Amino acid sequence: MSLIQMQGVGKTYGPIRALQGIDLTVPAGRVTCVLGDNGAGKSTLIKIMSGLHAHTEGTFQVHGETLVFDSPRQALERGIATVYQDLAVVPLMEVWRNFFLGAELRHRSYPLAGLRIREMRRIADEELRKMGIAVQDINQPIGTLSGGQRQCVAIARAVYFGARVLILDEPTAALGVKQSGVVLKYTAAARDAGLGVVFITHNPHHAHLVGDHFIVLKRGRTELDSPRSEITLEDLTQQMAGGDELAALAHELRPSGTPTAPASEGTTE
Ligand SMILES: Nc1ncnc2c1ncn2[C@@H]1O[C@H](COP(=O)(O)OP(=O)(O)OP(=O)(O)O)[C@@H](O)[C@H]1O
Ligand SMILES: [Mg+2]
Repeated sequence: MSLIQMQGVGKTYGPIRALQGIDLTVPAGRVTCVLGDNGAGKSTLIKIMSGLHAHTEGTFQVHGETLVFDSPRQALERGIATVYQDLAVVPLMEVWRNFFLGAELRHRSYPLAGLRIREMRRIADEELRKMGIAVQDINQPIGTLSGGQRQCVAIARAVYFGARVLILDEPTAALGVKQSGVVLKYTAAARDAGLGVVFITHNPHHAHLVGDHFIVLKRGRTELDSPRSEITLEDLTQQMAGGDELAALAHELRPSGTPTAPASEGTTE
């Protein structure tokens, strides 16, 4: 059974129609990539899944149960964890504290005094090591980690706290090549741990490296919906780059009098 299933899902913000007719399934142990240009509806889609905004059309099922979320807590209770791009971390707090933020272990008998600090340090350290995340010192402020490392800590945290669905909102958007690679590696690790991963991105190369299924949104509608076996990286890149639009732009940007250059590769982002 799919972890999440959407049929004909739509969302209006007053008169603005942000999303319509979306069919999407999130199976366990698979990475479902959602691509699309700015304003295509990607964030709206994940806000519906993570309980920030209720959908206004269609059916949304989680573990087979038809639901309309009205708070993020409801999504979390059903094992849907979201890692936002601007991670909700406290930069000056230690890595281990951020790992347990909002879910601290406490001694039952001392409600005021009792954080189980040593235990939380040990678990956070173990969990990060288990995923192969190299943090020098579990006591260093999380603000001293790179953006990629912070994304990885957030992924490890979701896995540790038993998430079944992991939603990653543009986790590689602000990262360089090497750091993106690391985040992609942990995305694959979460998939291998059996989570259903929803990976939002602008970048067809990153999507193609980890994706099992691809959905491209355009102005709130599904433009493409394809399993990995039916699409190549070239198709996906073409779809995302808006091949014709780019060709027209290339023509426009050329200094007058220069001959037409052959279409070049790597035209995304
Ligand atoms: N709270 C809101 N109120 C009104 N309109 C909204 C709201 N949130 C999003 N929209 C509109 O819905 C459409 C889809 O926006 P959304 O943020 O989902 O796009 P996106 O694909 O995430 O874009 P980006 O890549 O820029 O993050 C846009 O036209 C946007 O202006
Ligand atoms: Mg967005």
